Amino acid sequence: MTDFSALDRFLQNNRQSHLDELFELLRIASISADSTKGAEMAQAANWVEAKLASGGLKTKQIHGDGPPLVYAESAPVPGKPVVLIYGHYDVQPVDPLHLWDSPPFEPVLKDGNIVARGSTDDKGQMLTHVQSVLAWHQCGQKLPLQVKFLIEGQEENGSEVLEAKLAEITEQIACDVIVISDSSQYAKGQPAITYGLRGIAYYELRVHGPKADLHSGSFGGAVTNPALALARILTEMKTADGKIQLPGFYDSVVELVPSEREMWASMNFSDEVFAKQLGVDALTGEAGYTTLERRWARPTFDVHGLLGGYQGEGGKTIIPSWAAAKISFRLVPNQDPKTVSKQLQEFVHSHTPPGVRVEIVDLHGGRGVMVNPNSKFMRGAMQAVHEGFDAMPVLIREGGSIPIVAQMVEATKADVLLLGWGLDDDGAHSPNEKFCLEDYYRGIRASSRLWHYLAE
Ligand code: BES
Ligand code: ZN
Repeated sequence: MTDFSALDRFLQNNRQSHLDELFELLRIASISADSTKGAEMAQAANWVEAKLASGGLKTKQIHGDGPPLVYAESAPVPGKPVVLIYGHYDVQPVDPLHLWDSPPFEPVLKDGNIVARGSTDDKGQMLTHVQSVLAWHQCGQKLPLQVKFLIEGQEENGSEVLEAKLAEITEQIACDVIVISDSSQYAKGQPAITYGLRGIAYYELRVHGPKADLHSGSFGGAVTNPALALARILTEMKTADGKIQLPGFYDSVVELVPSEREMWASMNFSDEVFAKQLGVDALTGEAGYTTLERRWARPTFDVHGLLGGYQGEGGKTIIPSWAAAKISFRLVPNQDPKTVSKQLQEFVHSHTPPGVRVEIVDLHGGRGVMVNPNSKFMRGAMQAVHEGFDAMPVLIREGGSIPIVAQMVEATKADVLLLGWGLDDDGAHSPNEKFCLEDYYRGIRASSRLWHYLAE
């Protein structure tokens, strides 16, 4: 018999230490995109491993060419499902630093929120599961099923180590269901279970022109300007009404089904409130689709950064010798990033003007994820979230990507539960990232119930 009251008492009595521990992890600047942060990546991995080991789990680190994977497992429980908890200890870069109200790696509590880089994405959310497993252990209760943890350090930057090691560790991570908290609730006070994530295909596009910057007076008008050529290629990639122009891009897109569209239409989503939240005066996107449909279930194309040419103060009249853009396509089932790469090659080469050369660097990608909303684990997850958050979760899809999940599902054949504790306005990847303190505690509580209900 599970003694929920002992668990609840324990969680109540340990609110402060649970917060202190999250703060400890948040103080480590584990930015996976920053190659100078090797020591911080190791420090974060060691911290997570030590925490899991303190709860009686068998742990180890798996080393490859990059930040280590942290693996841990509790004792097997014959006849019961095996759960794999996936999460990440790496975080996004912090720039622009001057827009932070407090230093990103000095966590503070502000207006009921934990403010720090990684608070919601994903250290805070990931740690809820670590704390709940430790709580069972510390209350002297035997976990009703085996849990395994796989916490990586490159989710935000291509998951290279995990991808390279996946075949080798497939047996070790064998499981019936993968639990991931690295997404969001539908709204404040309205928890959700996510049944779909978009995939992604990420590239750097480099346009090379003259061998050196040229005086634009002497040479302008006579050569192709790489920045302008790049701009033209980028704008031709998507029409004004949001249709992507790569040949064959929509061929494998799984269309929304009417019941899904009806369900989302009834979700009380306000374009007006949303636009206001983002500080824009209009929402735009693919013609024929609502905002939720565009964000959750339609592919798109975006530019993340532009490089090249003169960036300093005042004016400088040059034709830059090169220009580049960081770009990505968000993908939906059943699009494949590899196919998109081929389509992008074809499109770019047929749209490159004479006088410049374009290079496409394939950074990383992953397919989208669709969860079976009728899996045998869904009901238990609903119940656990309900008890943790004091509200019945709704089913949603989300637009973000956890690129390695599709491959993990393929390798393990397991079901997936995407239990997001964050909020849309947490500022993930932005300055002043936050995670609601109470949602941290609710997440731990929901997680503590989850092991019980998944074992039933
Ligand atoms: N936690 C996010 C994924 C996410 C975001 C899920 C929003 C649901 C809603 C994850 O850490 C992330 O940001 N992933 C990146 C992957 C990319 C860097 C390859 C993303 O989606 O941009
Ligand atoms: Zn994340």
